[in-house]
Amino acid sequence: MSKQRAQWSGHLGFILAAAGSAIGLGNLWKFPYITFENNGGAFVLVYLAAIAVVGVPIMVAEVLIGRKSQRNPVGAFRVLVQGKPGGRAWMGVGFLGVMTGFIILSYYCVIAGWTLRYILMAVSGELGALAHHPEALQSFFGEFLANPYQQILCHSLFMGATIGVVFFGVGKGIERTARFLMPILLSILVMLVIYSIWTPGFKQAIGFLFRPNFSELTAGGVLEALGHSFFTLSLGMGTMLTYGSYMRKRDSIPRAALTICVLDTLIAIMACIIMFSIIFSYDFEVTKSSTILFTTVPVVFFQLPGGAVVSALFYLLVAFAALTSTISLLEVVSSYAIDELGWGRRRAALTTGSAIFVFGILSAVSMGGNAALSNINFIGRPSTGGVFGTLDYMASNWFLPVGGLLIALFVGWILTTGETRKELEEGHGTLARLYPVWLFLIRFAAPAAVAAIIVSVLLGAEYQ
Ligand code: TRP
Repeated sequence: MSKQRAQWSGHLGFILAAAGSAIGLGNLWKFPYITFENNGGAFVLVYLAAIAVVGVPIMVAEVLIGRKSQRNPVGAFRVLVQGKPGGRAWMGVGFLGVMTGFIILSYYCVIAGWTLRYILMAVSGELGALAHHPEALQSFFGEFLANPYQQILCHSLFMGATIGVVFFGVGKGIERTARFLMPILLSILVMLVIYSIWTPGFKQAIGFLFRPNFSELTAGGVLEALGHSFFTLSLGMGTMLTYGSYMRKRDSIPRAALTICVLDTLIAIMACIIMFSIIFSYDFEVTKSSTILFTTVPVVFFQLPGGAVVSALFYLLVAFAALTSTISLLEVVSSYAIDELGWGRRRAALTTGSAIFVFGILSAVSMGGNAALSNINFIGRPSTGGVFGTLDYMASNWFLPVGGLLIALFVGWILTTGETRKELEEGHGTLARLYPVWLFLIRFAAPAAVAAIIVSVLLGAEYQ
């Protein structure tokens, strides 16, 4: 081996970086709005079940592949498949992952860029002026989306920050950023939850989230909950694999995976409690649910004293959460270039980041800026969303579950139990005793659940 591979400084370093990857726009922007669209209750329950049965075991499997192979997703499979059934065909899973990372980052960065505009507006007082007239804010947002220059500017700023962190590498860049940002993020969220308890809509929000109503659940909704469990945990494309490859041998994988899954789920639920309490408190009409974070939330912040401060803090929080996720996405693509193409880290970060930025321009101008790109649609998609919506739909509902299914099959059936057991018992966690439970989930339960859902949706082939 040539160079020594970089490592996290310790157990907490890995957990913070991986939790930083998992916690992002998926929790703060996407989960609240898809929960809203799917009428809460039953959807939330399916989502929680998906996290427990599919998310946790696959997270363990991904980190395991990474740490065992010490490689990027493509290299990992190349090292691990030697002499095994299927052979190098498994490297396709790695390639699918790197490609999916490229796609997700390209549109994710566009949305992350919106938060920069909102921070600026909160500070300048503009947001306050708009928020006193909900319709004015709606139309402002529409114009903002339709303005290609502003979209591309925000997108480029966010991608610049992401490249900057990945440029400095694992310890100095990624870990240090996560160590600093994660505690701030948690404290702001806890403050907002405490605040929302006193709002009149709090009770209704809790009922909406936790009272299951199965008649409202559709097959498309189940696939969406499953796809989202992959998206929110950064699973199915090798992010956790790549981060796992920097994990120290003596740390416990099951303990880390459980901590990350619990933290991520808590934060998604907290985000819902905050937003739904707000929505139900003030008889709002939510016209377009995917923009709740940008058109509904500010209105309420400005009903409170200190709205400017609260909203500036809040969008800063969203930006931080998104940044620790975008760096994990870029790290996958960069580490591929570093390991497989032999590039230096700086060159890899700059080149892959710029390529993704250019591809992302398509999404940035598809929000109304360009009619042709806004109207592209994937057959069978439930709602229109242009290039951006189509990429998100394909990546989170198809590529991630399929990638996750293949990862589960690989770890469950291709690696031997001797190999996997050894890797999981490292770190002496008492959790290592749960090995048989994990093995059952990764061999049978997780693949069966993912496959059944994919097949049922293919057969049903319709969405409401
Ligand atoms: N999990 C992050 C979020 O919820 C997004 C993300 C980062 C991601 N890396 C990923 C999603 C890898 C899927 C795959 O916002």
